[in-house]
Amino acid sequence: MDVGPEVLRSAMRSPAETGGRPQASMASGMSFMIALLCFGSLLSTVTWYMIDDESAVGSYKPPPQKKTPPEPAAFCKGCREVIDNVLKRYSENWKKNVSNHRAFTSNLSSSCRGFERAIITQANTPVGTKIQYDGEKRRILQVTPDMFKTFIKEHPFGNRSFDTCAVVGNGGILMDSGCGKTIDSAQYVIRCNLPPLGDEYSKHVGVRTDLVTSNPSILKEKYNSLIGRRRSFAERLQHYGKALILLPAFSFGFNTPLSMRAAYTMEDFASPTQPVFTNPDYLRNLSRFWNIRGLKSRRLSTGIMMASLALEMCSNVHLYGFWPFSHHPHGLYALTNHYYDDRKVNIRFQIGRRRSFAERLQHYGKALILLPAFSFGFNTPLSMRAAYTMEDFASPTQPVFTNPDYLRNLSRFWNIRGLKSRRLSTGIMMASLALEMCSNVHLYGFWPFSHHPHGLYALTNHYYDDRKVNIRFHTIPVEFDLLLKLHSQGVLRLHLGLPRGLHWRK
Ligand SMILES: *[C@@H]1O[C@H](CO)[C@@H](O)[C@H](O)[C@H]1NC(C)=O
Ligand SMILES: *[C@@H]1O[C@H](CO)[C@@H](O)[C@H](O)[C@H]1NC(C)=O
Ligand SMILES: *[C@@H]1O[C@H](CO)[C@@H](O)[C@H](O)[C@H]1NC(C)=O
Ligand SMILES: *[C@@H]1O[C@H](CO)[C@@H](O)[C@H](O)[C@H]1NC(C)=O
Ligand SMILES: *[C@@H]1O[C@H](CO)[C@@H](O)[C@H](O)[C@H]1NC(C)=O
Repeated sequence: MDVGPEVLRSAMRSPAETGGRPQASMASGMSFMIALLCFGSLLSTVTWYMIDDESAVGSYKPPPQKKTPPEPAAFCKGCREVIDNVLKRYSENWKKNVSNHRAFTSNLSSSCRGFERAIITQANTPVGTKIQYDGEKRRILQVTPDMFKTFIKEHPFGNRSFDTCAVVGNGGILMDSGCGKTIDSAQYVIRCNLPPLGDEYSKHVGVRTDLVTSNPSILKEKYNSLIGRRRSFAERLQHYGKALILLPAFSFGFNTPLSMRAAYTMEDFASPTQPVFTNPDYLRNLSRFWNIRGLKSRRLSTGIMMASLALEMCSNVHLYGFWPFSHHPHGLYALTNHYYDDRKVNIRFQIGRRRSFAERLQHYGKALILLPAFSFGFNTPLSMRAAYTMEDFASPTQPVFTNPDYLRNLSRFWNIRGLKSRRLSTGIMMASLALEMCSNVHLYGFWPFSHHPHGLYALTNHYYDDRKVNIRFHTIPVEFDLLLKLHSQGVLRLHLGLPRGLHWRK
């Protein structure tokens, strides 16, 4: 019954087309799946496939879609077959199968109880509760009275179940779809990632919203993490009336302050929107639910989360804008990536040739390659692939993994010595390790300033290139200060290329 991910992947945009953004937003939302146009059909179960959609929303206008089929050469190999196959399974004579619907949703409810648990409430998460993050297993947060006040009193769905829900993805397929009225006619409308709504779009995507998700990435990229002026964020919220704004506050540590700032912004601007937070317990159970049904991806997309929630809340679930392919199913003309822009998605775990990596390793002979495999969840599969690559290419290098226990203790060690940064740099980790391993430690290339200490001429950023780091240092970075202290105490030796006898001065 399923179109396997392999089949679908071959039909997605080519790697060259995808933006190579770093994993800045691990907790990204995503938003496509296999899905549906606007034929007014009802869906109870769907086979999902998703790609990562963490793009920010801009006011940028999409290029017009070309409504002519692509030349065979311009059309990806095999896409036609995949789309044909999907269309064959996409029955236009759709009708609801009550017994399948009941079986599926009752399994879903009994595994996840999203109705009561999907959203953090004062009732299900009292003061003192230890919240375990779903993205970072070891991170626990104990609910303080202050944080508790930001939680909604009780779960916002009451005990009622809705008749019809519309879950609106942001796919380019919605452009010119004329789905707006149908979407708005649903009893409950769910949207993903603060999409733009308004005059120019209303005909195709509707205007009503009951619940809209907000990914940390959009808060970071489009609203500067809500650190500066927040009016543009407050103005965007006006699109959504009294909707719930669902924030994944407890998926990764950095989501929490960001989500709190979003909540405070709504409060400060007296926005009628209501911030609510996703319950990581629910996400864990939901992830398990889909995992045993064949969905092995590391994190669920926002799209499948919302569709799952809708399946528990509503008797009839309609999905719009969930078409993951680059071409329209009817007519095969090229689609923009979203209905409002053409920002490329970031396929994070893109897997390509590994030879260039293996070749780089030849520089290092039989060295140990130290990988922080257990620092963040996404490091693990990546580090494993690096290890497998060394194995596959019979590289003499030896992959080894940093022990997160050691890093925690090391972090504590430096913390009480004044280093308050959230994570230690690789430099200080290696210097610390060397201090335990070797009687004499020499550091080279640890100069954090843009000009040479001796002669003050400008330095490139690395000895091999001039890629800029994010932060230009205006004061002495704390780590460097500590290393310098160890140098002056005669514990280790920092080499700055100064003539003997001269000392570095501020
Ligand atoms: C619902 O689907 C099941 C199997 O998928 C089938 O046996 C049953 O006849 C269907 N019910 C109706 C009313 O079509
Ligand atoms: C759903 O739950 C029933 C029992 O409640 C079980 O027999 C069935 O195998 C489950 N189906 C799936 C797909 O998990
Ligand atoms: C969710 O998962 C937890 C374990 O992580 C389990 O105790 C619980 O029964 C699961 N299901 C529901 C509906 O809470
Ligand atoms: C929902 O119904 C249950 C009993 O069916 C009741 O105990 C509970 O208080 C109700 N909750 C709300 C929010 O109305
Ligand atoms: C590292 O920290 C843990 C507590 O997190 C402690 O039990 C352990 O003794 C520490 N290890 C060392 C070597 O001090």
